[in-house]
Amino acid sequence: MSDKHARLERLTSMLRRRGVILPAFEIHGGVAGLFDFGPVGGRLRRRLNNSWLEHWASHGDIVEIDSPTITPEAVLIASGHVGEFNDFMSECNACGGAFRSDHLAEGHHPNPDVLSQEELDQILHNNSIACPTCGGGDWKAARPMNLMFDTRIGAMKGGRAAYMRPETAQGMFMLFPALYRHFRNRLPFGAVQTGKGYRNEISPRQGMIRLREFNMAELEYFIDPEVEPAHDFSKWESIQFNLIPDPEFNQPMSIDPGSASAENIIRHPTVAWFMARTWDFLVSVGINPEMIRFRQHEGTEMAHYASDCWDAEIHGSYGWIECVGIAHRGCYDLAAHESATGDGNLRAWRPYSEPRTVDKTVLAGKGSIIGPAFRDQAGAVNDALQSIDEMPTGFPFELTLESGDSVTIEADMVEEKRIQTTEHGEWFLPHVVEPAFGIDRILWHIIDHSYVETEKGGEPYTVLRLPASIAAIDIAILPLMEKDGMGEVASHIHHQICAAPNLASYYDGSGSIGRRYARADEIGVPWAVTIDHESLQNGSVTIRRRDDGEQIRIQPDELVDALVSGAVTSLF
Ligand code: GLY
Repeated sequence: MSDKHARLERLTSMLRRRGVILPAFEIHGGVAGLFDFGPVGGRLRRRLNNSWLEHWASHGDIVEIDSPTITPEAVLIASGHVGEFNDFMSECNACGGAFRSDHLAEGHHPNPDVLSQEELDQILHNNSIACPTCGGGDWKAARPMNLMFDTRIGAMKGGRAAYMRPETAQGMFMLFPALYRHFRNRLPFGAVQTGKGYRNEISPRQGMIRLREFNMAELEYFIDPEVEPAHDFSKWESIQFNLIPDPEFNQPMSIDPGSASAENIIRHPTVAWFMARTWDFLVSVGINPEMIRFRQHEGTEMAHYASDCWDAEIHGSYGWIECVGIAHRGCYDLAAHESATGDGNLRAWRPYSEPRTVDKTVLAGKGSIIGPAFRDQAGAVNDALQSIDEMPTGFPFELTLESGDSVTIEADMVEEKRIQTTEHGEWFLPHVVEPAFGIDRILWHIIDHSYVETEKGGEPYTVLRLPASIAAIDIAILPLMEKDGMGEVASHIHHQICAAPNLASYYDGSGSIGRRYARADEIGVPWAVTIDHESLQNGSVTIRRRDDGEQIRIQPDELVDALVSGAVTSLF
């Protein structure tokens, strides 16, 4: 077994043993692609989520929303997921095993994700690729498999077809009118949503990397495509990003994001701006900056809704893994939902700098025909004719009145007229830039990058050097002994810390103090406090720093204040 693989096994086993990440439903045999976050992992994930929300929603232009995970089929037909959200699957003729065709083709093409069905079949055939289950090499032709989990809303025949959401994004598009009102009808603005997404992966593998139910954190940023964005890139001027552009256009390069935008390597400035802010986030939560690169999707690799997309890939035990996709979705989604529903509220208003006088051809109702034909609805028919935006392509046509009623207009009922009107602006479909984060993958890489194997006293010793801001537990409370009142003092401090906002402490009263430090270090607790005999005399306790073992004495109240304000480091 390679060193790398052995390290991965030790890490995975620690995560399981210490209740960080565990296979779900294990006593019933488990299910590939489903994991539990245990007593340590649950809080770690929550903190990562909160850091993410804080990162985006603390500037006043982005708000958090929360929408259902069960999504009616009509929404996902309109969004293109029912038709397009597929992976190619190859089935083994000998054992019936099914695998993602692009995974089988790995090692035989630099980026199998871009390949067509025929190209995948050829690679499998020409390279005699063996079935990972039975070793056979006789494959059925690859076919697309939709990745969504289907379900029904309601029972029996009255039920409606639905899916578990494959992305949270559609919830944000559905809420566009509410967001537009919330932001007083002014772009740009954004919405974030964190929550579960579901993909019925054909053959999940690589632990936390490919899940069937996973934690997503997505941001939809709505912009006016005609307004040139003025983003300030000065903050990142001295940071060279590792970019792998689509090979059709550019070679890999190191470049700061402002220059990459100015030189049109990253085509849209708002995409570049979100790439830079994504880099900030990843580094702030403990990803090694040397292990981040941005890779642009090739044309045939792009999701059906995207016109450009850069993945933030992170390097770890599984190689380079896509952890964030920053896509320019254009007006794809809003246009699709508008066209499927006829809803007119998915647009934004763009005022003209000066009113414009416009010559228009309109249809005017002929009073002598409209009156008798529509009687008390004649006025409403005339109003509806005047507000037609696009001339009908022929007669008869159906005209919808403001009341919602529909009437049939024949050619002899109307005449064309040229008129002049003054227009003050226009309705348009906003464009969307979407940074979409896979929280589980990021969390996995934070752990992977923080996991340090060393030695202490000739024994293996591991430390998880998590940033204090996302560590699951802020502090370990360790009474030197549980006698002479030390246990009671320790319990009191433990409860005081647990009661403070957003803090968690972990009481450990058993075993040698060295073993207890080791248990705390293993799951990344940044601080440990020891209650000893001196604590009984003068109330002071010892606080130890995880990363260098340095210790100072301090009064418990001072410690709690420093933990609440995040300033423990400054005490040293
Ligand atoms: N919304 C991005 C994704 O589904 O990956």
